[in-house]
Amino acid sequence: MSLSQGRPHLAIPGPSVMPDRVLNAMHRAAPNIYAGPLVDMLPGLKADLKAVARTNQHVAIYIANGHGAWEAANVNLFSRGDVALSLVTGRFGEGWGQQARDMGVQVQAIDFGRRGPVDPAQVEAALRADREGRIKVVLLTHVDTATSVLNDVAAVRAAIDAAGHDALLAVDCIASLGCDRFEFDAWGVDVMVAASQKGLMVPPGLGFVWLSDKAMARCATSDLRTPYWDWRPRAAATEFWQNFNGTAPTHHLFGLREALDMLVHEEGLEHAWTRHDRLARAVWAAFETWGQGAPHIALNIADPVARARSVTAARITEPDATRLRQWCEAECGVTLGIGLGMASPDDPRWHGFLRVGHMGHVNAHMVLGTLAVMEAGLNALGIAHGGGGASAAAASLARG
Ligand SMILES: Cc1ncc(COP(=O)(O)O)c(C=O)c1O
Repeated sequence: MSLSQGRPHLAIPGPSVMPDRVLNAMHRAAPNIYAGPLVDMLPGLKADLKAVARTNQHVAIYIANGHGAWEAANVNLFSRGDVALSLVTGRFGEGWGQQARDMGVQVQAIDFGRRGPVDPAQVEAALRADREGRIKVVLLTHVDTATSVLNDVAAVRAAIDAAGHDALLAVDCIASLGCDRFEFDAWGVDVMVAASQKGLMVPPGLGFVWLSDKAMARCATSDLRTPYWDWRPRAAATEFWQNFNGTAPTHHLFGLREALDMLVHEEGLEHAWTRHDRLARAVWAAFETWGQGAPHIALNIADPVARARSVTAARITEPDATRLRQWCEAECGVTLGIGLGMASPDDPRWHGFLRVGHMGHVNAHMVLGTLAVMEAGLNALGIAHGGGGASAAAASLARG
């Protein structure tokens, strides 16, 4: 007998749980795109998007997913044959660099493995070695969703500056925006990409690029730039339609308005960061307890400083991660994330990783419920583990 009837819970790292308020805001008749509420609300939306990224500079909105936001950044930043320095700490860092390579950019990658963050000293050394200044942009992933590593953006900026290099810094915050602290202006970021379906709590379909004045200027000379992706009219639009280079993503914008009301005006961004921090620590406490005397269970990132607050990747020796995921979904209606990018699906190690998403519209009972279901699964499947992980998570939350 399954206990999965009732509201299912999606604990994958994006798309994340959407608030009913966001869905309800989208449930409306087609709006006028020439005048009225939709047109009137755009300046406020852009102001709040800037607030979420902590910048007074520019933002461009695209009808796109995260890959589209990557491409928007690449076409505006690069000309064919330019060099990018790609800092890889998981599948998504690799993916952004690969996309640039496929577009004709020469990508110099530094791979930091799958279990730790970027080492800024290596970044500085690579930039110092680039005496001719061929590297145009450093590509960094803030949180790599595959490994759940959190990279130190300010430290990478400091490394660029210490090398005396004028490369721009472009950061993928697709899995971290609204969850982990991010400071576009204060950290000296030039480009940041994100999408609607994770910390921003809106269905997939909107891609965003924030850009500095310097990045805005860079695209004037980029020969990869195409009219649709050009960020200049979008970021500096004087007419509503210019923001989207055509028809606006009408319903997504109403959803986004509601989500930003919740995040920026009601909860407050800093509070949301703290909420994600406390919930993430509860998840870590559960895994650390399950792993006691059970070395086959371990968090992928050992150092808490380098762990994301939005997603947690863990190892549970194959095939038990897959067995546990399947049990949680079939028996209890909780869907956990696959161990993306840690092995290929035909590799037995594929079944030795899983991820828990805790981004966006999540609260204590959703996280504790997920962890308690996982503990029930560990017991039901006879997977050896340290007892009391769910209690440890509850205690972590209680400590504050
Ligand atoms: C960090 C990161 N970058 C890029 C992407 C790609 O985004 P999308 O799947 O929306 O194209 C994802 C998706 O999970 C991601 O987590």
